[in-house]
Formats: sequence, structure tokens, C-alpha cells
Amino acid sequence: MTKYIVQGGHPLFGEVEISGAKNAAVAILPAALLVDGVCRIENIPQISDVTLSLKILEHLGAGIRVINRHTVEIDSSHIRSTRTSYELARKMRASYYLIGALLGRFGQAEVAMPGGCNFGVRPIDQHVKGFTALGAKVMVEGGFINASTENGRLKGANIYLDVVSVGATMNIMMAAVRAEGNTIIENAAKEPHIVDLANFLNSMGANIRGAGTDTIKIQGVDRLRGGSYAIIPDQIEAGTYMAAVAATGGQILVKNIIPKHMDCITAKLVEMGVEVEEREDTLLVRRSGPLQKANVKTMPYPGFPTDMQPQITTVLCLAEGTSLVTESVWNNRYRYVDELKRMGANIQVDDKTAVVEGVDHLTGAPIQACDLRAGAALVIAALAAQGESEISCVQYIERGYEDIVTKLQGLGATIRAVEVPGESEELEAHIG
Ligand code: EPZ
Repeated sequence: MTKYIVQGGHPLFGEVEISGAKNAAVAILPAALLVDGVCRIENIPQISDVTLSLKILEHLGAGIRVINRHTVEIDSSHIRSTRTSYELARKMRASYYLIGALLGRFGQAEVAMPGGCNFGVRPIDQHVKGFTALGAKVMVEGGFINASTENGRLKGANIYLDVVSVGATMNIMMAAVRAEGNTIIENAAKEPHIVDLANFLNSMGANIRGAGTDTIKIQGVDRLRGGSYAIIPDQIEAGTYMAAVAATGGQILVKNIIPKHMDCITAKLVEMGVEVEEREDTLLVRRSGPLQKANVKTMPYPGFPTDMQPQITTVLCLAEGTSLVTESVWNNRYRYVDELKRMGANIQVDDKTAVVEGVDHLTGAPIQACDLRAGAALVIAALAAQGESEISCVQYIERGYEDIVTKLQGLGATIRAVEVPGESEELEAHIG
């Protein structure tokens, strides 16, 4: 089992290069199944969710050619099965994208039910609502979600999402691109990775308009040809490093970002007293004075992202005064708070709200990651805390952050990964 050992209490200085967006990659990779040809995908993050996604595609019969650490070619011309490996698919929440992709290409899909997760219920009723509207019959049997159409091809439909859902928006988009006729998705999510998926599919011959707005129009096409595509930089990874320097103090240059995607995070950090200088594809982030309290409410894009909630709450632990954090997307995304309390944080959680009383400093302690973003928040806390921290269950973190230890060392952090003898814990299904 791997642990991180961190000597905290020092400011960060240096440059960090942001990798491709995890939440774009875990949708674009399955979307390659829609293409009966070869897709060359670049700027893929080197993270275990991507490794797992490629294994699942290979198991279905896709040809995978690794060009380099960040580039693969996927040939879905000879897919031989529409039934995913149960063991592989159940390990990752994002496996549900395989339903939309397989259904959109072949008119049928058998995908393992995605596992539970660490912050409350993660329903997929809106995904099912969309598939059903497109003419599929969806059942759950023996741990698999079975979706199929009678004549093998979906029919376009108008779908109004009851909830703004990233997954449902992307899944329905994938199912609809090769459907007969037109589809309109209303009340769609607008995250950058949704636009990225639409751009990927359009580069392969799809006809999708309006991604990034709450109404997406899709004109079904008969087939998608191959092509090349580069994934956008990861908004949340970039935000995580910005939160790290906000907590520790210092100055870092965050490279390879799309400034527009960072606006919601930048605005909140500036409100807290962090200086952010925006350049073409970089942000210079500096914190030298005291952190100011702030209130945060997570919302669908372009609001403050829920995937930055644990990280910003950790920074607020060190701000002067009382801050209020409201998690409006997930039911129970504060499990990491108990770990922060071991380090001296003063946070009271009541349902979806956390009241954060700033403290003068945190102290290092043995702490445990419980999911991807919670783990990233604990790394931030350890970097800011006085003394040594030992972070366990870091496999959660490494599913969504490429080379996080090396990147932090490049910013002057005293952090190292150590192998500790003992069972490598089978992590609960990854919640990402
Ligand atoms: C995606 O999850 C992300 N995961 C999550 O990031 C992120 O927190 C979330 O979007 C919100 O931005 C990936 O992209 C792989 P949703 P997703 O469907 O698609 C409810 C990370 O850390 N809902 O937008 O599963 C749901 O309960 C991960 O990278 C339904 O009610 O999220 C939630 O309250 C964690 N019915 C809200 O909608 C449905 O059918 C938003 O969920 C679907 C969702």
C-alpha cells in the first residue's frame, strides 16, 4: 500500500504543468466506441481511471495502440462484444458512459452497474430517462444494466433533464449521435468537459450544436469516421494547485490552462485574498498576506465546482473569521472533515452546510483519503500544516491526479511516496 509522507509548513514556489482533464478523458475514451475507425486521442492524463478505461475497451475488442504517455490510438472497427467485463466496469463510476456509447453504435449494451460511492447516492435515473426516450429498453439483471433497441437503432427525441446532470448529458449525447433523426437535450449541464466531448464527436463526423449551453441539439448521422483530437486541460487539477498555494503561501505559475474555465475558482480565491494574474494559457498565483473568510456554494458550471469543495474548505480552515460552505450537488461530501479535525481544523457540518472557523495553523497527523477530491484536500492540508503528515489510501488520489508527488516536489514541497507492507486495500468503487 502506498502512503504519502509530507513535511508541511513551507510556502510553494515554482511552475506546474496541468494535464488533460480526467472528466473529459473518461467520457471521450468510451465515446471512441461510436467510431468505426481509428481515433487518435492526445493530452490524455496518465491516471489509473484512464488505464482502467483502456482495459475495458480492449476487453470489448477495441485495438489500443499506445503512442506515448499521453497519446493513444483506439480502433473500434472490430468490436466483438457489447457486454463489458463485470469486474473491470464496476470499479469506476464513469463506466456508465459505456452504455451510451455501445447503445449509440450497436443498439445494445450490457454494462456492470457502477459501484457505490463515498458521498451519498449516485442515481442514474436521468441517464435511463434519456435512453428510454430514444427508444431503448433498459433493465437491471444480474448486476448488469441491459439496454437494447428492437431494430438496432435509436430514434431521436426531445429530452428535458429533471436534474442538471453531467453524466446524463454526456451519456445521452453519445447515444444520440448515430440515432435516426434529431435529439434535443434541455436543462443540459454546461461543464467544459461536456463541450470537449461534443467537440471530439464533431471532429469524428457527428452533428452536435449548443454544447456548453442548457440546450444541446443533435442531428443523428449514419456513421462516425476516425480522426485526431486533443483533450482540454483539467480545470479541477489546476484549481487544486491554486488552492495548495493559497493554503501554504508562496507563488506558483500554473501552466497549460484555459483561463475561462478557471473563472469560478479564480474569483473565489481572489475574494479570499489570493492574487491571480491571468495570461494566455497560464495563471500566476500568489498568496503573501492573510487569507480572508468567504462563503462558498457549489453549483453546476459556471458556478463554483463541487469537485473543488473539499479543497477550498481546507483553505478556509486557515482564513481569518467564519466561512460558510454549502454543498448543493452531492448529499454527503464532507467525509474528509473528520480527517481535517485530526489536524486541528474547526469545522461543524450540518447536512449540506459546513461552518468553518479559521484557525491560526494546522498540525501534521496520520490521515486517510476517502475519495479522490477529499484526498487532494488532505494533501493541501498536509502541505500547509506544521510538522509531518502521513496520508494513506492515496490510490484514490492517483486515480485523478497525474504525477501529483513529482509535480508538488517541483513546487518545492517536501513530499514522498512510500510503499508500506500490507494488503493493498481494494478501494471502494471509485467515485469519480
Ligand atoms: C460528474 O459526476 C463528475 N464525474 C463528478 O466528479 C462531479 O462531481 C459531477 O459530475 C458534478 O460536476 C465524472 O465526470 C466522471 P451528475 P456525475 O450526474 O456525472 C444527481 C470527480 O471528483 N443525478 O452531474 O455522476 C446526482 O445525484 C467526480 O472528478 C440524479 O439525480 O454527476 C447529483 O446530485 C466526483 N440522477 C447531481 O445530479 C441522475 O441520473 C449531479 O450529478 C444523475 C445525477
